[in-house]
Amino acid sequence: SSGVRILGTGSAVPERRLTNADFEKMVDTNDEWIRTRTGIEERRIADPDKASSDYAVEAAKKALEQANIAAEDVDLIICATVTPDYLFPATACLVQDRLGAKKAAAFDLSAGCSGFTYAMNVAAPLIRTGAYKYAVVIGVDMLTRITDYTDRSTCILFGDAAGAVVLGPSEAGKGLLSFELGSDGSAGALLMQEGGGSRNPSSRETVEGRQHFIRMNGREVFKFAVKVMDRATESVLAKAGLAKEDISLLIPHQANYRIIESAMKRFGLTEDKVYVNVHKYGNTSSASIPVALDEANRAGKIKADDIVILVGFGAGLTWGATLIRW
Ligand code: ACO
Repeated sequence: SSGVRILGTGSAVPERRLTNADFEKMVDTNDEWIRTRTGIEERRIADPDKASSDYAVEAAKKALEQANIAAEDVDLIICATVTPDYLFPATACLVQDRLGAKKAAAFDLSAGCSGFTYAMNVAAPLIRTGAYKYAVVIGVDMLTRITDYTDRSTCILFGDAAGAVVLGPSEAGKGLLSFELGSDGSAGALLMQEGGGSRNPSSRETVEGRQHFIRMNGREVFKFAVKVMDRATESVLAKAGLAKEDISLLIPHQANYRIIESAMKRFGLTEDKVYVNVHKYGNTSSASIPVALDEANRAGKIKADDIVILVGFGAGLTWGATLIRW
């Protein structure tokens, strides 16, 4: 076998909700503005005593259970995140321990909201060559821990979640058929967390300068997103020898409904062919695509041989798409 497919999906979202009405009490905004500009109605906020690995473990366990694969048989764990429990050790190692995945290699991958798509395509060739059999790929973020709740232009956007898949071998012609990954580091300053790294180590100045919070130029990121979502989707279709009419389900990064709507129009997709949950969770960064995939999968919206495209963009700046024959 030279194919790689998704054997199971899982996700975990916190119970606690922040609604648009809650934000009206925190910053100068209103439900109408948030709905029309973003499509977001509410987001989930992690419990104070939880960290990324807690939700990652929950999502991974569900994916393993659905795949019917034991943790001891997992060869590789990749955790896509920009909000790890600690700068090091990697969150993937914390997950490896708590799953009891004794023989697994584990590391984190940082590609912003494109991280999950990147991680899937880093894992897939290792399975395709036969070097590894099973990989757990996780997208997890808790952007609310680095969100500036005095900045109305960003704070309304983000929520916390984790999603995971188990990848394993399959017959050729099934599973992950094509991918497109890209980056443009020259635009990295449009979306960043400046403080806490080796450039600006954590100090009183970085805290007072609010450098530990997300800073984003929303308007510029929006323009970039619309452009690369189209380009990446077209690329994975062409590489797989397929056309836009072949798409069964598009699962875009859930950042803003207007960005999703633009991709829908571009590819002539009706609402039933695009998975949307941004109204429930806001932008959950690396988790957004695997959470949406898990929801669609468990709701029975994906059938055998369906053509599913995952496509996202994020900090870096980065973008990524994967085309799957289910
Ligand atoms: N409530 C009310 N007014 C607001 C709010 C708010 N929450 N936020 C901004 N405004 C105001 C602005 O101050 C501005 O007022 P002005 O014209 O008087 O200056 C006005 O609304 C319009 O602001 P814009 O920034 O132009 O609004 P836009 O329509 O671009 O929407 C948004 C902003 C929602 C952030 C949009 O740009 C967006 O979604 N961009 C993409 C962001 C994204 O996807 N980021 C995720 C990247 S992935 C990752 O790795 C996290």
